[in-house]
Order: sequence, then structure tokens, then C-alpha cells
Amino acid sequence: MSKDQFIIVAIDGGAASGKSSTSRGLRDRFCLMRVDTGSFYRSITLKLLEAGVEAKSNAKLNQALEKMELKTEIESGDAMISIDGWTPDESIRSERINHSVSDYAALPEVRGRLLQYQRNQKEVAQENGYSGLIMEGRDIGSVIFPDANVKLFLDASPEARALRRAKEGIVDSMEKRDRIDSTRKTAPLKRPEGSIIIDSSEMSLEEVIDEAAKYIEAALNS
Ligand code: DC
Repeated sequence: MSKDQFIIVAIDGGAASGKSSTSRGLRDRFCLMRVDTGSFYRSITLKLLEAGVEAKSNAKLNQALEKMELKTEIESGDAMISIDGWTPDESIRSERINHSVSDYAALPEVRGRLLQYQRNQKEVAQENGYSGLIMEGRDIGSVIFPDANVKLFLDASPEARALRRAKEGIVDSMEKRDRIDSTRKTAPLKRPEGSIIIDSSEMSLEEVIDEAAKYIEAALNS
């Protein structure tokens, strides 16, 4: 690709595999707009819980999703979802949301509502002058941007992941979430075809960012 071409970097991986910290480092290094799609699923989950909508396919769910007006606001290089004028805060990282988000994210209606919205983030980044997009989640390299210029799949041992969450002081049912996320019918978490695996169990954050950056540089120079 030529230097002035827009680059798309997809990062997938399970809970606490290091996607967020790595994508933040890469965002800053390459002037990319960062999209944390987990925050989209978390925000929709919070709004559905608030509205008393259960994690079940039914008319109430469809109506609630249809009614939501989704927009994007950019804060320090991160694309933030806005739902009916509300933008997420730390409440989307609470134990309650950690507990419920995978059940809502497994619903085809929820995934369908977010599909085009996620793809539209490319235009949001272009309109706002970014040279590329870095999007992290579970199905980015497989479903959202299968033609991404760089596809990374982050992994880490269960011990390393548990230690990270403990350090963050977060209560998270990671194994349960990974199980639901990787066994659901619609867009399950899996290693996307053609992706590069980085196992960060024994690596520092800087090392992971440096390793991932090599692939982005190679794509920019190809
Ligand atoms: O990245 P995260 O842990 O904040 O994501 C929260 C949940 O959202 C995750 O357990 C499954 C769901 N999710 C998803 O299904 N697809 C994505 N692309 C991103 C997140």
C-alpha cells in the first residue's frame, strides 16, 4: 500500500488478552483512530438493562434496538458511541455489565444493529483526518473488516489474564465470557483467517506494541 493510503488494523482476542492497551499504544504511534467495539456492546447492554429488556430475541428487543439513535463522538483519538445523546462512562465496566454483556452480544439482533455502525467508523476516521483505523473486538478480522490491511490475534495464558484483571481491580468472569463469545452462532470469537498471533503472556506491553508495530510498518511499506 502507498503511504497516503488509509490503513485498517484489526485486533481480535479474548477478554484481558491485551487488546485495549496494545491498540492505545498503536493508535498513538501511527495516528490512528481507535475503536473499542467491546465498549459498543457494553453500552448497548447497559441501555437494554436500564430499559428492562431481557437478553432474548423478541419484539421488545427489536423495538428497543430500532429506536436507538447511534452516533460517534471522538475523544482523544477514540471513537465513542453515543446512544440517544448519551456517551458511556466507567459504568460500562462494572461487574453487572461484565456479567451480562456476552449474553446480549450473542443475540443476532444486537450484532446486526452494530454491524454497519462499526463499518461506518472507517468513514468517521477519514472525515476526521486520521490516516487509519485500529479496531479491536472479537469478530473484526473475521466479519467487520475481513480485508483489513493488518489482522492481529492477541492471546495470553489464563494466569496472565487473571493477573491483569486483578491488577486493574476488576471483577470479571473472563472464562465464562470467552466461552459464550466463542461458542455463539453469530460471529463467534475465533482466530481470523490470515491473522498474526501474538502471545503476550511473557511479554511487556512495550514489547507487544513493538511487535505489532512491525506488522503495521510492513503493511505501510508494502
Ligand atoms: O472487549 P470487551 O471485553 O470490553 O468486550 C465485552 C464483550 O462484548 C465481550 O465479552 C463480547 C462482546 N464483544 C463482541 O461480542 N464482539 C466484539 N467485536 C467486541 C465485544
